[in-house]
Amino acid sequence: MKSSDRPEPNIRLAPDIRREQLIQATIKAIAELGLSNVTLSKVGAEVGLTAGMINFHFETKQALLTASLKAVADEYSQACEDAMAGHDDDPVAGLYGFIDANLDSQICSPQKAAVWYSYWGDSSARDVYMRIFGHSDTASYEAVYERIERIAAARGRTLDVEAATLGLIGVIDNLWQEVMVARGTFDYDDAVATCRAYLGNLFPDLAEGCKMRLVDVSTPEPADELPRTLPAWTYCSDTFFQKELEQIHLPAWHVVCHQNDIPNVGDYRTFEAFGERAFVLRGEDNLVRAFNNVCPHRAHQVLGPGAGNCPGLIRCPYHSWGFDHTGDLKAIAAQKTFPPFDNGQFGLKPLELETYMGFIFIRFRPGGPSLAERFAPYENELAPYRFADMVPTEPVSEEEIDADWKNTWDNYLEDYHFPTGHPGLFGLMSMDYGRDPNDATHTIRLHHQMRDKAKGGWSCERYASLLPEQTHLPQDQRNSWRYYFAYPSFAFDVYPEMMDFLHVIPVGPGRSRLRFGSYSLPGASRELKACQYLSGRINMQVHREDMALVASVQKGLESSAYDRGILGTKEIAVAALHRWVRADLPEAAS
Ligand code: FES
Ligand SMILES: [Fe+2]
Repeated sequence: MKSSDRPEPNIRLAPDIRREQLIQATIKAIAELGLSNVTLSKVGAEVGLTAGMINFHFETKQALLTASLKAVADEYSQACEDAMAGHDDDPVAGLYGFIDANLDSQICSPQKAAVWYSYWGDSSARDVYMRIFGHSDTASYEAVYERIERIAAARGRTLDVEAATLGLIGVIDNLWQEVMVARGTFDYDDAVATCRAYLGNLFPDLAEGCKMRLVDVSTPEPADELPRTLPAWTYCSDTFFQKELEQIHLPAWHVVCHQNDIPNVGDYRTFEAFGERAFVLRGEDNLVRAFNNVCPHRAHQVLGPGAGNCPGLIRCPYHSWGFDHTGDLKAIAAQKTFPPFDNGQFGLKPLELETYMGFIFIRFRPGGPSLAERFAPYENELAPYRFADMVPTEPVSEEEIDADWKNTWDNYLEDYHFPTGHPGLFGLMSMDYGRDPNDATHTIRLHHQMRDKAKGGWSCERYASLLPEQTHLPQDQRNSWRYYFAYPSFAFDVYPEMMDFLHVIPVGPGRSRLRFGSYSLPGASRELKACQYLSGRINMQVHREDMALVASVQKGLESSAYDRGILGTKEIAVAALHRWVRADLPEAAS
């Protein structure tokens, strides 16, 4: 886990990346402190550089401020140009593109809006603003004017085109100001709808189109019963938690590691959860087996926690009983001190094990479908990634958090919070999000595609620009991030350049242990490794954002003010999770 999205000071970055980083830090500083309070040392503190080191990239503070405004202005102009490109024959589509670009959450973010208004509101800086952006203001005005004029002409309408143009630009300006005030609660879709409604007032035939665009086709029909969440008490009850362990988690599959985490004979990994101890070990016959990590003599652990190699007998550290790789008892210290007994009665207890696509899963209670059966609907799309051939990119890591396991997955399974919760990720990935719960297998597939033009900060933009074409994947998976959840505790997160798993282990009501493992195909190119590093940074930021969200939710669930919530269509995967919990434990229905 990296501790911060802020680049470490001792990392040497290419000059263009460092300049970009300084510009982003300056934009943030302007938004937070106001133009006149920005200093080089404050910007430097953000990126781990001294003022003197910044001078290496920008000779003066003014040069840095001007470059920051220019970066915002260039991004804005390019976005408008891109959005209107290809619509020369269709002025309505061109105008809609202009509106979309102006109210894109990355272009019109609270920080960038603050930069605009800082310059505009500071009389001493207005000259700079006019020099850098005056021509672009004019170009925007002309683009809108020209299109409104053509729309009016095509409809035989007589219109004060100048007033109509200023009106639309004024509506957009107003919405930009709202962005700064509303910050995280600003509704960009609604803002676009407002601008289109303005055009609908000018041209009534467009109003019908506005209505059609405003209708959310996924708006649910009024239901007899509201789609309610699980009641809050199920996230904090000790009694309910104990039932969850027995009914849901002990019978579930739990990932221990990947087969390439234990490539050599005698390699092992231990695993502990729900008061149970286990280990998996690659035997002399190269087969991986799972055992309870409990000595049949007096119940000590036979292998210490973590990972290691045990090439010969597995020796219990308490009294040195020895077991072979199949779990059979082979050596008893001071055997003559025991009455004769059948060694076969005192072997290590085996556990059920399944290797699925290279990942080693165990379960503490036998029975129920295999993972291969449960993931069968996704097998064809997972196969090209070649999980089984992958190698670890870093050791499996763990983290305990103050959030119930359901709370953690509730957050993972919905994208409703992306625009407000993950502005960086939201700049990289498109708004279209696939949510496919499968009630038959208790699995859920989630997926989204990268935007054509990535935003969201330098990690996102750099990742998108560096990502090599992954020709071993089908076309629609080359720019796609996909997530495959298996109820109740496991998910594969799959990216074009690598994959990871998330394993959530309940450790108490309102408390969970998260386990992460990261893997990629061997022999990754420098570019691919850079992308793995960058997607790791992006996901670490997303993780920090999510952990803050679930911690706050857990406190809310435990407060007296909350009973249960309601779920929308962007939360259908959460609804599926809750449905399956209710099916396992019917008392969770009320
Ligand atoms: S407890 Fe393992 S040898 Fe005694
Ligand atoms: Fe999230």
